[in-house]
Amino acid sequence: MQKLQDAFGRIHDYLRISVTDRCNLRCVYCMPAEGMVFQPQHEIMSYEEIAEVVRALAPMGLSKVRITGGEPLVRKDLEQLIQMLSEIEGIEDISMTTNGMMLPQKAHLLKKAGLNRINISLDSLQADRFATITRGGDVHKVLEGIQAAHEAGLDPIKLNVVLMKGMNEDEIRDFIALTLDRPIHVRFIEYMPIGSASDNWRATYLPLEAVTAVCQENGWQTEEAHLPKGNGPSQNRRVQGAVGTYGLIHPVSEHFCDNCNRLRLTADGHIKSCLYWSEEVSVRELTGKHQPEAIQQLFLRSLGTKPKNHEMALALEKKAQSNTPTSRKMSQIGG
Ligand code: GTP
Ligand code: 5AD
Ligand code: SF4
Repeated sequence: MQKLQDAFGRIHDYLRISVTDRCNLRCVYCMPAEGMVFQPQHEIMSYEEIAEVVRALAPMGLSKVRITGGEPLVRKDLEQLIQMLSEIEGIEDISMTTNGMMLPQKAHLLKKAGLNRINISLDSLQADRFATITRGGDVHKVLEGIQAAHEAGLDPIKLNVVLMKGMNEDEIRDFIALTLDRPIHVRFIEYMPIGSASDNWRATYLPLEAVTAVCQENGWQTEEAHLPKGNGPSQNRRVQGAVGTYGLIHPVSEHFCDNCNRLRLTADGHIKSCLYWSEEVSVRELTGKHQPEAIQQLFLRSLGTKPKNHEMALALEKKAQSNTPTSRKMSQIGG
């Protein structure tokens, strides 16, 4: 069967599935201060519809899925979806990106249903600062969630830290220090001008060279790390002798689009072939009809127009871009 290949020869084997645009936090870069009008329930894909899409794509080489949101765990009985996906032949890696708050209740159920591993967003280890970034979140709940994920056997556990100038750059050292004697994998992510983050992006964006500088200041010798397992763009390193690793995800200063292997499905059933651009197509008219070929053709059509790369850096210079950047908020895409 035809592979999920685009016009530039990139093979796609990884689908990021957003299951809801709702969240129990309101991170400053993800949702506007005034809150959001959430998508109505009837517009949200059912678990059966999502599984139908994945079943159609698996024979085309899809083998990795990541569940995102919003916050995926606010969706009721999410373990049922994990179970359904884990029963699809060809799906080898099921992961999730979450804020971690609900992991104490959910980690065991998710693992039992077939979730392999988890990435947890955590932009500060300091309680007051975490509350500011998330507009009211409790960092201790997330730390409990990390512990629960560990006890449930989700492995590896990765922490996502979006670096923000004047906000958390002074915590780079503390985050890397976590990896020295624990099996924790921290990934520093460059702040992307998408959705709510577009407004004050210029003032907040910090290139990831800041991380290398902190290692040098602390006299940490670092080396390339080939683990942990991942399907995304992170370049992993470790402080020599450390148990865990740290990774660099630098979409802005150096894009990784040449190796892109990712497609996205939004909670309201739109295929996004690229995180950054506005182009998308709805798969929902095709679900529930037992026509996997039609779903396959639609994904191929979407891939046929996937751009070669994003142009986030041009936004910095306010230069014209070749396409229209997405108007969705990050909470509606899932990162
Ligand atoms: P692993 O399989 O564990 O490597 O996961 P991942 O890095 O693919 O997933 P995660 O949801 O943890 O994403 C980490 C960060 O990378 C988020 O900020 C994403 O928005 C960003 N990211 C992931 N894929 C892409 C991509 O295709 N383009 C861009 N620009 N950013 C991406
Ligand atoms: N820039 C970089 N990363 C972002 N994320 C959300 N918004 C942005 C942004 N503007 C991250 C979240 C989460 C992941 C899915 O995407 O912190 O870890
Ligand atoms: Fe792929 Fe688009 Fe991300 Fe580039 S910005 S890596 S093309 S999804």
